Amino acid sequence: MQKIVTLTLNPAIDKSTTVNTIVPDRKLRCSNPVFEPGGGGVNVSRAIKKLGGESTAIYISGGYSGKHLEDLLRLEGIESSVVAFDGQTRENLIVVDESSNSQYRFGMPGPALNKFEWRKCLEILQHSSGAEYIVASGSLPEGVPEDFFGQLACVAKKVNAKLIVDTSGEPLRYAMSEGVFMIKPNLGELSNLHGVEELIEKDVISAARSVIDKGGTEVIVISMGASGAMLITKDQVIESPSPTVKKRSTVGAGDSMVAGMVLALTKGLTWLEVLQYGIAAGTATTMNPGTELCKKEDVEKLYECLKAKKV
Ligand SMILES: Nc1ncnc2c1ncn2[C@@H]1O[C@H](COP(=O)(O)OP(=O)(O)OP(=O)(O)O)[C@@H](O)[C@H]1O
Ligand SMILES: [Mg+2]
Repeated sequence: MQKIVTLTLNPAIDKSTTVNTIVPDRKLRCSNPVFEPGGGGVNVSRAIKKLGGESTAIYISGGYSGKHLEDLLRLEGIESSVVAFDGQTRENLIVVDESSNSQYRFGMPGPALNKFEWRKCLEILQHSSGAEYIVASGSLPEGVPEDFFGQLACVAKKVNAKLIVDTSGEPLRYAMSEGVFMIKPNLGELSNLHGVEELIEKDVISAARSVIDKGGTEVIVISMGASGAMLITKDQVIESPSPTVKKRSTVGAGDSMVAGMVLALTKGLTWLEVLQYGIAAGTATTMNPGTELCKKEDVEKLYECLKAKKV
C-alpha cells in the first residue's frame, strides 16, 4: 500500500457530452462522450496523481462498467485494490446544453452491496501495511450500515493510520464517535453536525470548536467555496481566503482540496501550508470545465499567491 489509501464504496463512471439544445421529444445528437472515473475517494486519488503524488485506491467495481472504470484508472497510473461485487458500477451522465451553456448532471443510484462486499474493504485495510493516511469520501451505497465509517475508524486505529473522512450526516457522526483525525465539512455539513439549520461565517469557529470539544475529531477543515476555508484544532484557528479565479465548474473541488491537504500532510508541511495547499488544489479545479480536476501548474501558482498573500 502507498502511504495514502483512499476508499470508495460508491464509485462511478462520469460520461460527459454536449448537445446544441436540450428539447423534449426529439432525438438529441450528442458530441463524442468523454469517460472519466468518479466518486469521492477515486477523485481524491486522481487529484493526488495530478499533483505528482501516489496513493492506493480501494474501490468496489462490478460488471462491464466496472471493468471500464478499472481500465480508466490504470491508464491514469493509479494503483488500485479492487473489490469485485455482484452488480454494475454506476454510470452518471453530464450534458452541457451549448445554447444556454447550462450543465445537466444526471446521477444514477449506486447499486446495493452485500455484507461480504463492504466487509472485504475493511479486511483489505486491516491486513495492509504502510498506510499512513486513509481517506474515505463519498456516500454509502444501499446495503452498507450507517456505522460503516465508525468500523473503518476502528480499523484505521488498529493499523495505526490517520483517518480523514469527507462525508455527511449520520455516517460522519459514526466515524467521529469512534475517533477520526480530520473531517472536511462545508458550511451546510458543519451546520448539520452542530444541529442547526444554517450557520453564518461569524459562527463557524464556535460551531467547529463545540464539535471538537465533544471529542473524537482532531482537526476540522471547513471549506466555504469562494470565501476560503478554516482549519481548527483543539488550540489553533487558521484561516485563509480562496484566490479569485475565473470559475468554470466546481465539480470535484472538495475532493481536490482533500487531495491537496493529505499530500501536504505526507510532506510534513505546517497546518497553514496544509490549508493553503488544499485551497489551491480546490480552487485550481474550479478553473477547469466539467468534471476535469486540477492542473499541477495552476495549483503551484495559486499556492505561491496564497503564501505571499497576493489574493
Ligand atoms: N467559486 C469558487 N472560487 C474559488 N475557489 C473555490 C470555489 N468553489 C470552491 N472552491 C475551492 O474548493 C474548495 C472546496 O469547495 P467547497 O467549499 O465548495 O467544498 P464542497 O462543498 O465540499 O465541494 P464538493 O461539492 O466538491 O463536495 C474551497 O475551499 C475552495 O478552495
Ligand atoms: Mg464536499
